[in-house]
Amino acid sequence: MDSREITMEKIVSLCKRRGFVFQSSEIYGGQAGAWDYGPVGIELKKNIQNAWWKEMTQLHDNIVGLDAAILMHPRVWEASGHVANFSDPLVDCKQCKMRFRADTMDQAALAAKKCPNCGGELTEPRAFNLMFKTHIGPAEDSASVVYLRPETAQGIYVNYKNIIQSNRMKVPFGIAQVGKAFRNEIVTKNFIFRTCEFEQMEMQFFVKPGEDDKWFEYWREQRWSFYKKYGIHMEKLRWYHHEKLAHYAKDAYDIEYEFPMGFQELEGVHNRTNFDLTRHTEFSGKDMQYIDQDNGNEKYIPYIIETSAGLTRNLLMFLCDAYEEQNVAAAGAPEDYRTVLHFHPKIAPVTVAILPLMKKDGLAELAQEIRAELQEEFVTDYDQSGTIGKRYRRQDEIGTPFCITVDHDTKEDGTVTIRFRDSMEQIRVPRSELVSRLHQEIKNYKRG
Ligand code: GAP
Repeated sequence: MDSREITMEKIVSLCKRRGFVFQSSEIYGGQAGAWDYGPVGIELKKNIQNAWWKEMTQLHDNIVGLDAAILMHPRVWEASGHVANFSDPLVDCKQCKMRFRADTMDQAALAAKKCPNCGGELTEPRAFNLMFKTHIGPAEDSASVVYLRPETAQGIYVNYKNIIQSNRMKVPFGIAQVGKAFRNEIVTKNFIFRTCEFEQMEMQFFVKPGEDDKWFEYWREQRWSFYKKYGIHMEKLRWYHHEKLAHYAKDAYDIEYEFPMGFQELEGVHNRTNFDLTRHTEFSGKDMQYIDQDNGNEKYIPYIIETSAGLTRNLLMFLCDAYEEQNVAAAGAPEDYRTVLHFHPKIAPVTVAILPLMKKDGLAELAQEIRAELQEEFVTDYDQSGTIGKRYRRQDEIGTPFCITVDHDTKEDGTVTIRFRDSMEQIRVPRSELVSRLHQEIKNYKRG
């Protein structure tokens, strides 16, 4: 079966049409850099988050979770280096007022100080800090400044001693967190790829200095395997090794995905050394050393291996990777394209749709009864309007892996049809075996 090219426009249009993602404040003309997740979008986002959470915490017995506040003491961001260093170099056109990032714009135009848009004169590059600044309390003075966190990682570092003490953690161990982060990004094109408000899934792994290289390799391997487990096209992923390192890093790799606009960063794996905890020791005056009670109370500041993935960027990646416009016409017949999202069943927003062949003859009631049996186990949908073919297509578009059709035979012999999204094959199974059969199909799922 042949398929058509994927473009970002097609993804954006499907997202709006089917309720994955809407433009923020659309009725007011939209808010740049912010997006809203609709009914199936939030299910998809939660499933990705849950898959990550399970992988990082439940499948690693030395990793625990945390949910720190978005607003933190402003000294945190001085210690982390964000106040001084978290900036983009910007130039403005004095004539047309357009703004460009000096590091990513046409370098010949930058050298000539000529605007790539209108040829006008450009200003000198200025450092533009990406943190959103606001005030807490009634007075808008410098004493009341707080920042919206630009990464979730710092909430983990400032809680590292609390977690050692409350949960008796021993190095090596990790802390995982999922939450909102905010950056005043200048360029927010490509839909939800780069936004001002987004979500991160970060894990900080605390290790003994000298063992950091070994754990760095371990976490690179683990994060790569995660995407394989959830059926991502592995040929669309690649590693990018950073040559220019951030101020805190000893080594850094990104996992990049081939989005419709080309290969772009999906997740970073960083060796942050003892930079963060050392700085928090200096700025807070609190001792951040780990005391190794199993080794004669040896003291050291742990090194940190960080895995940092964008949740909302992962959602875009899962959508792009699942998307297919597939010609399902029989040989020789005119082309007939269906849009289908091949999500892994554990990622799909809806797992099972229950469809009565027709509303009458008691089939709708019977289908509702079957839905009630499945609801505790799976996320379900129910649809009784339109032809069965149209209803299958609607479910394909949101990536529902299984449709259950209830027909007259169901009344007679208690069997139902399972229709598989990817192969479009149909099989008949007894209603009593449905729950176990679906669990088995989810467990054994392999993307075709
Ligand atoms: N704690 C390290 C850190 O924040 P980062 O490379 O700046 O590192 C990590 O961000 C991940 O967060 C990125 O790989 C990306 O998936 C996501 N991310 C960063 N900025 C983003 C933005 N403006 N919009 C959406 N996702 C973003």
